[in-house]
Amino acid sequence: MRIGILTGGGDCPGLNAVIRAVAKTLMHEQDAEIVGFLDGYDGLVTDRTMPIDWEAVSNILTQGGTILGTSNTANPFAWSERDGDTIITSDRSDDALAVLEKHEVECLVVIGGDGSMAIAGQLAERGVSVVGVPKTIDNDVPGTELTFGFQSAVNVATDALDRLHTTASAHHRVMVAEVMGRYAGWLALHAGLAGGADVILIPEIPFDWEAVFGVCRQRYERGKRFSIICVAEGARPEGGTMVVHRRVEGSPDPIRLGGVGRLVAGSIEQNTRVEARATNLGYIQRGGSPCAFDRVFATHLGFQAARLVAGKRWNRMASWQKGRMTDVALADVAGGSRNIALDHPLLAVARGVGTSFGEPDGS
Ligand code: F6P
Repeated sequence: MRIGILTGGGDCPGLNAVIRAVAKTLMHEQDAEIVGFLDGYDGLVTDRTMPIDWEAVSNILTQGGTILGTSNTANPFAWSERDGDTIITSDRSDDALAVLEKHEVECLVVIGGDGSMAIAGQLAERGVSVVGVPKTIDNDVPGTELTFGFQSAVNVATDALDRLHTTASAHHRVMVAEVMGRYAGWLALHAGLAGGADVILIPEIPFDWEAVFGVCRQRYERGKRFSIICVAEGARPEGGTMVVHRRVEGSPDPIRLGGVGRLVAGSIEQNTRVEARATNLGYIQRGGSPCAFDRVFATHLGFQAARLVAGKRWNRMASWQKGRMTDVALADVAGGSRNIALDHPLLAVARGVGTSFGEPDGS
């Protein structure tokens, strides 16, 4: 049995733990040979590989990043190349198929987020046998209630909120922490709850400026002369738009969000006269070693993917649902993002302990 493996999209803690679990399980139980494609789908199109053997997966469980490298722009079906100032896009899926054939790959294991899964789904339509493993700090892949990397990012963001707490309190300031998450508020919700944020702003609940100012003012008047606000990069005011930081042409979704934290801090200072500062946690949330939970969870997902391969259960993605490991059809995963439902229990929990989502009074 010859298996291909790649990591696609933005990196996150636990990618190496998955590679290790897939490879060790398949080498151990199936005597499989494994070829790794470098830099996501880029290596699949341009035929750049490395052998994934016992030596390659030794001592990588705790390492952040990915030994295979990754790319968030490479797409065999919409291959982008720069010609001067112009970007030329072409379909190079035939090249990808030829590379898979050359390496006699029976099945390709794709470790990635929604963009990578969508491409995996397209490869499956072209006859490639694929198995997916959902990754991302955003926790927004459809078809699974949890992705690996998320918990590590929550830990980093929580630690940052704890640190902002002490300096906010010392200087009697409003501290705004902007966290990643793209169009979903999972990271902001979990880190905000864990860090005791007074206000959590998420894309799923467009916020009311006056409600946010009101929380800061009221806390000040009650003698709490500081406030902590955890804002998701995709949060936006009612009637407003998300703050776009830049466009990455060639990426499945070219929009990169960023900057809402500064906007929120600036408006608070202007409207409440309480001093406010913004901190954008950025890529710190994605880097470094996976936390213990993610080491175990990534290993479990990798093991499940290996089981799917061994059972020749193609075109499925390992998935965590209702407290147990299972799998779903890739076709049901491709496209879209998993957001926080407005009746999610954690929203009620947060409101219960007095956290504001920037909703107007009485809503
Ligand atoms: O999907 C993971 C993520 O870190 C998002 O939270 C963030 O919006 C995006 O990737 C940033 O992408 P890039 O690495 O292209 O800047």
